[in-house]
Amino acid sequence: MKKKTLYACNACGFESPRWYGKCPGCEAWNTLEEVPDQALPTARKAERKRAAGTGAQALTLVDIPSDEAIHQSTGIAEFDRVLGGGVVEGSLLLIGGEPGVGKSTLLLQVCAHLARRGKRVLYITGEESARQIKLRAQRLGAGRDQVLVLAENAMDAVEDKLASIQPEVAVVDSIQTMYRPDMASAPGSVSQVRESASMLMRHAKTTGCAIFLVGHVTKEGAIAGPRVLEHMVDVVLYFEGDHHREYRLLRANKNRYGSVNELGLFEMTGEGMRAVDNASETLLQHRTAGISGSVVFCGMEGSRPMLVDLQALATQSFYASPKRTVNGMDQGRVALLLAVLEKRAGLRLYNQDVYINVAGGLSLNEPAADLAVCLAVASSLSDKSLPSDVAAMGEVGLLGEVRPIPFMERRLAECARLGFEQVICPRDRGGKLRAPRGVELIQVATLSQAVAALHLLADQGTGKAAK
Ligand code: TYD
Ligand code: MG
Repeated sequence: MKKKTLYACNACGFESPRWYGKCPGCEAWNTLEEVPDQALPTARKAERKRAAGTGAQALTLVDIPSDEAIHQSTGIAEFDRVLGGGVVEGSLLLIGGEPGVGKSTLLLQVCAHLARRGKRVLYITGEESARQIKLRAQRLGAGRDQVLVLAENAMDAVEDKLASIQPEVAVVDSIQTMYRPDMASAPGSVSQVRESASMLMRHAKTTGCAIFLVGHVTKEGAIAGPRVLEHMVDVVLYFEGDHHREYRLLRANKNRYGSVNELGLFEMTGEGMRAVDNASETLLQHRTAGISGSVVFCGMEGSRPMLVDLQALATQSFYASPKRTVNGMDQGRVALLLAVLEKRAGLRLYNQDVYINVAGGLSLNEPAADLAVCLAVASSLSDKSLPSDVAAMGEVGLLGEVRPIPFMERRLAECARLGFEQVICPRDRGGKLRAPRGVELIQVATLSQAVAALHLLADQGTGKAAK
């Protein structure tokens, strides 16, 4: 064996046999560091030793025994939804998010629940002391639960404790604080994080213990250093939201045991994270009816329909080029929709500042939201408000046509459930679409028809109010 020196960037994981001041991978400065003791085999075949391997035989798919992944509920419905049903035995899960978003809180709640179900649960903290964890547990009403807490950040000690305690579920908070003293680099560097994680993965796979790794995310949005971990783990979850937002969103970026489209909605309360299961009601609760510029849209988050309030404000501009400010949607998409409104529906927007906001801090990226955005802008521009029981959905094309969208039935059912009586939607060409009871469909083929419908409804709405 010949010794080779390898340098790795501790921000992006880029590897190179020579050192650079500026990482060629992510262009960060001074992030390359030496990965020590890289005993790399030489390329000559004759000198290579044969690895013993596992002795496994190749089998046809039919002969491989099937063991379905069994999902164990975490007791928090929204968390289960994102995980695809619950935690799977022997899985390695990474939960990323900015500091303060609530990772430790949520995981402690999960631990408490699993302990109550009789599971042996170990919470390893490298950031806070055991007393701090106790204080938090008391705040969460879990002060008396049988969760084992270990304040440790040396990986060897963690390994020993895992072997002696044999927990069924373990949390490592956070992976960046774990280190192996025999490695030269500092805790949190790529090599330390990768080594710690691969040791934990071996433990998870050999003993069937499910291990949650907490990873802090830097401002750039990458899990600091350990982006390398994403390939290694079975599930990658990201927590979005900050102190200024009402809700915390949990999304799966990768999931070997379920779908990655599901969204979990949480609220930080005085007693920890509360799952928001009635998403539509919660998102619409602060809505004020009778004001122009607001249109309700039914979006799909994974398999779940969710009603959101789309808000637009159009005011006369005093700038040479009018302002367009967008919150919760793609800025380019909104610019395109404004251009279509101008050209195909005859709205004068060139001298208007336009602001778009998705209420509640959600972000929408489906084209199905197009029609609602356009109608919110049209409503604000004409200062006509829609009646409060009207929703809108549909994709808008460059020709001003309103195009069909997927999951119409589920979206309409959600509208019906929340008492919406009229829905502006794309024309149903197949004639198969059935409106749920109590819902009238206003089918439109073009954006100008939709804008005309908006004015009609708005006039009726004021008429109704005047009576
Ligand atoms: P924490 O779980 O420590 O975040 P992370 O592990 O992601 O860094 O939670 C951070 C914030 O949550 C902290 O600012 C305090 C607040 N908090 C509550 O509002 N209610 C609670 O019950 C708890 C435990 C925390
Ligand atoms: Mg924490």
